[in-house]
Amino acid sequence: MELTRLKGFPDLLGPQARTLGYVEERARALMERYAVGEIRIPLLERIELYQRSTGETSDIVSKQMYTFTDRDEAGTTLALRPEGTPGVVRAYIEAGLDRSDPEQRFFYSGPMFRRERPQKGRYRQFYQFGVEVFGRADPACDAELLVMIDDFRRDLGLEFQMEINSLGHAECRPAFRAAVLEYGKAHWDELCSDCHARIERNPLRLLDCKIDVKLAERAPKSLDFLCDECRQHFDTVADLLRAAGVKFVINPRIVRGLDYYMRTTFEVTSTNLGSQNAVVAGGRYDGLVEMLGGAPIAGIGFAIGIERIALALESAGTSRAGLPRVALIALGAAAASRATELARELRALPLQVELLSTERSLKAQLKRADKVRANFAVIIGQDELARSAVQLRDLGASSQREVSLADLAAELTAPQR
Ligand code: HAM
Repeated sequence: MELTRLKGFPDLLGPQARTLGYVEERARALMERYAVGEIRIPLLERIELYQRSTGETSDIVSKQMYTFTDRDEAGTTLALRPEGTPGVVRAYIEAGLDRSDPEQRFFYSGPMFRRERPQKGRYRQFYQFGVEVFGRADPACDAELLVMIDDFRRDLGLEFQMEINSLGHAECRPAFRAAVLEYGKAHWDELCSDCHARIERNPLRLLDCKIDVKLAERAPKSLDFLCDECRQHFDTVADLLRAAGVKFVINPRIVRGLDYYMRTTFEVTSTNLGSQNAVVAGGRYDGLVEMLGGAPIAGIGFAIGIERIALALESAGTSRAGLPRVALIALGAAAASRATELARELRALPLQVELLSTERSLKAQLKRADKVRANFAVIIGQDELARSAVQLRDLGASSQREVSLADLAAELTAPQR
């Protein structure tokens, strides 16, 4: 047996890992500005958590979870988290926040696991950055999260398409559900096998079926079934988005494949990706806290697919301007000692500094500097040390000159570089 990686479980090395880290960093910085605090939840939960929230008829629970039996007496069935929302809701209830301090804003970041068919942009282990807000039923909260997504897009220099819909709430949704069920039954012979299997238990899935696309387009639309309150809620979200200058379209097919959604649902796609182009998705889940044993508290959130954002950045050619990179080359023992100190000073500027091996020739070190795409090589030898200077080689321009140590910081951080 070869010890290779599992299908759909990518290793992320070098630039790939760096871009993922960059996307996470930008998202974290955004959380700071939106006053959202971090929550860290386990990777393993009881299977029932997902069965009761994500839903038995969802593809995630019915086909895609990694589960195993624990070695405890009860033989508890555990599942690797396929998404973050259920775990965050469970943690929120378990901490008693639903009763003691219901209004909360959390973000989380980490791997999720789904046994999907792997392809570009779709993996079995993938990274999500998610946000969940509790205790806010007002439309301003929905709009704030959508503006947050738009700020994230802007920050990264990407173009997104934002699609929103409303599914109605506990009172108006049943009529819509019944209408879709009736429609599905009337077109029974045209339905795919997945729709046949789930139409009774979860008829809304017909609307986002990837096979019965034509049928879905002609199906009843949730927006036609909204009660006055839900209509008002949805209209206000749309008005607030327009006022904030966020571009969006209303798409009645956004029903989402997870069971807990109600009222506002949304999906955001990137124009820079192929078939796996959904980069952010989410919606309101006002009944979920209560369904999992907590108080009747409203909730809303979304999750960003980190790999897909990284792919979108790559395909948009949006190279991020990272810190200038310096390869520091020391020749001789005394110079090496000064270079160690100098590297610290330059890193604090901040610059990216790699101190190269002192056991290699100058030629080999310059080759390394080229290979790691350094912007500058800073060379320090015995003579330079005596003059308190360095040789500064601009690797882009292939030019070299002597610069005093006192001027080095200014030279390396000058804006024209
Ligand atoms: P989701 O639509 O299942 O929603 O996933 C959100 C995002 O995660 C997708 O839009 C996509 O970018 C990314 N994603 C999903 N599956 C994969 C995969 N196999 N490979 C790569 N990326 C993937 C949720 O997970 C909800 N928990 C979102 C939410 C939070 N709703 C309310 N709060």
